[in-house]
Amino acid sequence: MQRIALLTSGGDAPGMNAAIRAVVRKAIYHGMEVIGIQRGFAGFIEGDMGPMNLGSVADIIHRGGTVLRTARSQEFTTREGRATAYENVKRFRIEGLVIIGGDGSFNGAKVFYEEYGVPVACIPATIDNDIPGTDWCLGFDTAVNTVVDAINKIRDTATSHERTFIVEVMGRNTGFIALQAGLAGGAESIIIPELPYNIEEVCRKLLRGVKRGKLHSVIVVAEGAGSAMEIAKEIKARTDLDTKVTILGHIQRGGTPTALDRVLGSRFGAMAVELLMDNKKTVTVGYKDGKFTYSDLERTLKEQKEVDLQAFRLAGILSI
Ligand code: F6P
Repeated sequence: MQRIALLTSGGDAPGMNAAIRAVVRKAIYHGMEVIGIQRGFAGFIEGDMGPMNLGSVADIIHRGGTVLRTARSQEFTTREGRATAYENVKRFRIEGLVIIGGDGSFNGAKVFYEEYGVPVACIPATIDNDIPGTDWCLGFDTAVNTVVDAINKIRDTATSHERTFIVEVMGRNTGFIALQAGLAGGAESIIIPELPYNIEEVCRKLLRGVKRGKLHSVIVVAEGAGSAMEIAKEIKARTDLDTKVTILGHIQRGGTPTALDRVLGSRFGAMAVELLMDNKKTVTVGYKDGKFTYSDLERTLKEQKEVDLQAFRLAGILSI
């Protein structure tokens, strides 16, 4: 393989830049040329791409976001859009693709391979951490640390005012961020879409806490589990506790990547290049059960990643 292209797609995630750097430098190390595609599949269709060199990825390992920019392309979901992208594959003589993104991007990559046979190595990057085949997606650890930092700050003011805070976090329709950050942040309750919750039980726990002298409570709600505003209203109505809401929003997507996200980005990027060199056609890289590994793209897309029920139960026990 002489020439590969790479793009970042979907929601940005801290660690994407570390992966871009690794793909470019590892490929150049093996004598390949690298084309960087701007703005994900949108730039792929528009031909917004060009050669990258060692210097193009200098001084980016510590930066959040993605230097290649990103987009959610509707056009790539159409046959016409993908046909135009294939014209650019021919024009730039691309022999393999590295796609850095979430499951929507992986789906696009799979369909493109089925239609045009361009080998693809996918790197899981989403703060939601909802991609099977890996325990960690790029960006998850940084996002969780951002949430935990926010919870720490909220605790200070919550204690001073003896308040209950509902902290809404991202995760789309999954609760990975809420669970990890809730456990690390010592939240009183964690509400996630994967498991039913009982508002009466949440309130009983809050009141029990007040009775034994707790000065504050923090409830972490995953955005996919319901509206933090509505939950706050219900809690206020049932307990009369002074209840406030903080919706963390897009600050969870930014910031300098943690060491873990930089290491994962570097290893995933290098692995993606190796797998393409090894003539693999459709793979996703990952880190599972303590090992760097890869799986078949189709299998990754078919599987469902489960939240850790043990961690969920433990968070309940520890926050009694
Ligand atoms: O998939 C990452 C994510 O941040 C989700 O957690 C969130 O629901 C969504 O993207 C927000 O998307 P956008 O930035 O397009 O509003």
